[in-house]
Amino acid sequence: MNQQTLSMRLERVAAHVPLGARLADIGSDHAYLPVALMRRGLITAAVAGEVARTPFHAAQRTVNDNDLHGQISVRLADGLAAIKPDDAISAITLCGMGGETIRDIFDSGKAHLSGHERLILQPNGGEQALRQWLMDNGYRIVCEEVLHENRFDYEIIVAERGSDPVTYDARELFFGPLHLQARCPAFLHKWQRRLSQRQKTLGQFTRAQQALPEDKILALKQEMQWISELLG
Ligand SMILES: C[S@@+](CC[C@H](N)C(=O)[O-])C[C@H]1O[C@@H](n2cnc3c(N)ncnc32)[C@H](O)[C@@H]1O
Repeated sequence: MNQQTLSMRLERVAAHVPLGARLADIGSDHAYLPVALMRRGLITAAVAGEVARTPFHAAQRTVNDNDLHGQISVRLADGLAAIKPDDAISAITLCGMGGETIRDIFDSGKAHLSGHERLILQPNGGEQALRQWLMDNGYRIVCEEVLHENRFDYEIIVAERGSDPVTYDARELFFGPLHLQARCPAFLHKWQRRLSQRQKTLGQFTRAQQALPEDKILALKQEMQWISELLG
């Protein structure tokens, strides 16, 4: 992967960035995503935010090597603190981190949001917690995708702040409200794989006669029941 050839995962994230957006890519690592979008002429300005020095320097290198320092600001900052009011950011990408981490970054950085940004999120697990935060903070999920790459199932959640509050029930928060309606093959395959993993985990604990905390067993069984119902 580089600034020209993105992974399929980042290509799908890129597809949800509106044309002409002013993008903040938080946790940008090498800044491949904003640089690729800028090189393709799809965005007008970008901020690449990084909390760690090594990826921050890598992002600076990619931006400089592509002569894009006029259009992409690389900033060493924790989460949304990379965004300044003058940036007039219209889209935020936050990809390749746990859903709980993404949630915490938004929660502690709320002051940096105008509420007009489209959020394009690619959590590695923890989707339920992230959807819960989006719902609690007035966001509507406008698009959801699942894709399978390098043996992993990746989710992409796109959300926008609406005027009317939305309420998602427990299953919608768990599986994704739009996934439940669309039931696309990639989504069903993800949950087929998840169900066999969970069955294996439960079997291993039972065979080893190892005590799992009661609440863990209940949560596992609840999850397996929901998945079985989903798959019919
Ligand atoms: C696994 S990489 C993902 C890179 C890229 N977004 C992608 O999806 O390919 C996660 C990056 O997020 C950065 N990161 C983690 N927590 C962060 C925070 N609070 N603020 C900014 N960057 C953060 C890490 O330093 C790391 O470079």
